[in-house]
Amino acid sequence: AIDINKLRDLTGFITIDPGYKNSGSCKSEITFLDGELGILRYRGYSIEDLAEKASFLEVSYLLIFGELPTTAELENFENNIKKHSLVNEEMKNIIDGFPKTAHPMGVLSALTSALTAFNPKAVNVDNEKEMYEAICKTMAKFLVIATWTYRKSMGYPLNYYDNTKGYVENFMQLMFQLPTGPYKASPVVIDALDKLFILHADHEQNCSTSTVRMVGSSHAGLFASISSGVSALWGPLHGGANQAVLEMLEEINKDGGDTDKFLAKAKDKNDPFRLMGFGHRVYKNFDPRAKIIKKAAQEVLETLGVEDPILDIARKLETAALEDEYFKSRNLYPNVDFYSGIIYRALGIPTDMFTVMFAIGRLPGWIAQWKEMRENKEPIGRPRQIYTGHALREFKSNK
Ligand code: ACO
Repeated sequence: AIDINKLRDLTGFITIDPGYKNSGSCKSEITFLDGELGILRYRGYSIEDLAEKASFLEVSYLLIFGELPTTAELENFENNIKKHSLVNEEMKNIIDGFPKTAHPMGVLSALTSALTAFNPKAVNVDNEKEMYEAICKTMAKFLVIATWTYRKSMGYPLNYYDNTKGYVENFMQLMFQLPTGPYKASPVVIDALDKLFILHADHEQNCSTSTVRMVGSSHAGLFASISSGVSALWGPLHGGANQAVLEMLEEINKDGGDTDKFLAKAKDKNDPFRLMGFGHRVYKNFDPRAKIIKKAAQEVLETLGVEDPILDIARKLETAALEDEYFKSRNLYPNVDFYSGIIYRALGIPTDMFTVMFAIGRLPGWIAQWKEMRENKEPIGRPRQIYTGHALREFKSNK
């Protein structure tokens, strides 16, 4: 039998797999996903159970540390996040350097990286205390600066974390509290956001998560690695899909609101248009996260009593597509991005902040994967290539 490792050593044998569609980059104990059966589990717990019964911080702890926290462990985690929630005032100078029109994901990536300057202590992975502190700092400060990207774009004063409130409640307050009066978000809204963050918290080796692991594999610190994850998530092929859903709904609205016309366009094979928020590369029967969030979206819309033609179009489109033979026969169901965009819109979150929302949800997954990679002492990521350029050329100046 041929020993494939020896063969590689002898011949320089290299496999090519663009996009790593069939290549595993690591072994992981964090998230299990079966696209055919529509299964998603964090550390062995079903996403349905977690979304129904756990809070976002509980799920974050589970992903990062491997087990559900006890009451004391959760309290300690939350208290440590509060302890680290202040962001160095000098960070405001950096924010002020950006134009108001800067995309919030660009600002978030830069600010996350800048956190390193104010928290320079390298994380020693053999030291559990240091690791724990770094994780709590990241969870706390990332939430605050994520909301600051929005406040900056609106020209509003920046808010501070309120230690009397929970993590998700803080998010809403950091975003929307104005100096002119008190702010209180509805519990239904907090619950829906909590669920949304849980549903986005990890999705195994996707583009941003693999990036975080790759950057971290050079032993770059946690903030720098997370910052690279934000940049990877920013792209429209990854975290930008929920923004695309809203842009499509706005386009239908501008065009007069005729959903049948756009449904027909999506079915027309000569037209490149696709219904955004329908179908999924991995989930071929249904997206388990979409089922959960659909219910939360309904509750939020009912509670807030929002009147919005965009949301009416979304409802009409969803009903029509679910009854349509083209979509039924191809198993094209609304995915998590379809409903998350609707909830964000109803909450008054601007469209270009949607990917930031995704990043806040994905943060514990990135941290968990970074920690696992370091603890497993994974080697530096260094893919090979097949060189297709010139053979040796004699130097002759073109000057
Ligand atoms: N609208 C209309 N037709 C569609 C759609 C859609 N949204 N999605 C797939 N189809 C059709 C295809 O044209 C194809 O039809 P055919 O068999 O007659 O040729 C069939 O369904 C299968 O589609 P594929 O392109 O092979 O499916 P693939 O797995 O490659 O694509 C994808 C999945 C990219 C998500 C696709 O469904 C799509 O473009 N959806 C819209 C964009 C979107 O919502 N993306 C977010 C995904 S969720 C996330 O990334 C977090």
